[in-house]
Amino acid sequence: MGENQRKTRHKVSLIGAGQIGGTLALMIAQRELGDVVLVDITDGIPQGKALDLLESAPLGDFDVQLKGSDGYEATKDSDLYIVTAGLPRKPGMSRDDLLRTNTEIVKKVAENISQYSPHSTIIVITNPLDVMTQLMLRMTGFSKKRVVGMAGVLDTSRFRSFVAMEMGVSVEDVTALVMGGHGDSMVPLPRYCNVSGIPLTAFLSQEKIDEIVERTRNAGTEIVGLLKSGSAYYSPAAAAVEMAEAILKDKKRLLPCSAYLEGEYGIQGYYLGVPVILGAGGVERVIEVELNDAEKRALKKSLEHVKSLVDQLHLN
Ligand code: APR
Repeated sequence: MGENQRKTRHKVSLIGAGQIGGTLALMIAQRELGDVVLVDITDGIPQGKALDLLESAPLGDFDVQLKGSDGYEATKDSDLYIVTAGLPRKPGMSRDDLLRTNTEIVKKVAENISQYSPHSTIIVITNPLDVMTQLMLRMTGFSKKRVVGMAGVLDTSRFRSFVAMEMGVSVEDVTALVMGGHGDSMVPLPRYCNVSGIPLTAFLSQEKIDEIVERTRNAGTEIVGLLKSGSAYYSPAAAAVEMAEAILKDKKRLLPCSAYLEGEYGIQGYYLGVPVILGAGGVERVIEVELNDAEKRALKKSLEHVKSLVDQLHLN
């Protein structure tokens, strides 16, 4: 019986067992999305976190296996990888400052994933996000549907939280959409935000909406400023789990993700945050919504920023 259960369960490998990796392991186990393997270069950390979580299973009521490792063999035949390996930001740093260090790390991770699980799907979280996702695509040679970046779900969740706080309504009733690159040039789209179907503009002044847009843009930096020793981890982990669930359960969720564009929104050959359908096939479809001139300009500016980083790595 135990053996049969193991065979039918998904296998999720988390590369990087730091703040986000550890939180991901907990959330994935609690939702019983699959067996979890944690991998990190710091020996003892993935093993320790996995064992600690395993010992909480009788209290958390979850029946999944958790394993920690300093090598990739344990990840063999994973259905899904979530990659956080790399350095996080410190105060005063932008996500772009991580480019050089994290490039070398992501290259190594990509080599190992293609060797051990050539048919897997990969969610990238390592920053600078859109560029690291493009690097992962190039280095693995996977189909573009199988390599997706986590940014929009987090940025949208931040926007929704601020709207709910401002209005004193449930976060459940607020929907929103944030597109573009994961950085200062992200493109929150208040026009596509509503509260139980009622447009945001019916409740909040333009000035208030602009404030929320600005706070969303700086939300990651606000957390870095408070934590001082690293960047946000609860909300990035929760956002990636939302995506993981959509893929593993083939939910066909419509979520904003960093996806490889080949003509959509007039963009060719770059990763950028757009609404997509996320299911068992990975990024199954990119959804093209109508943008007004100001929104198109903001998206173009965001693309220019991502392009400048991609060009530094000579990825195109
Ligand atoms: N292989 C595996 N793990 C690695 C490697 C590698 N080559 N290099 C570094 N790591 C591990 C580190 O040892 C560390 O445990 O990645 C982990 C990163 O964890 P944290 O430093 O706690 O950072 P975290 O907050 O989890 O953020 C990770 O996500 O949001 C982004 O900007 C953030 O790029 C950063 C990443």
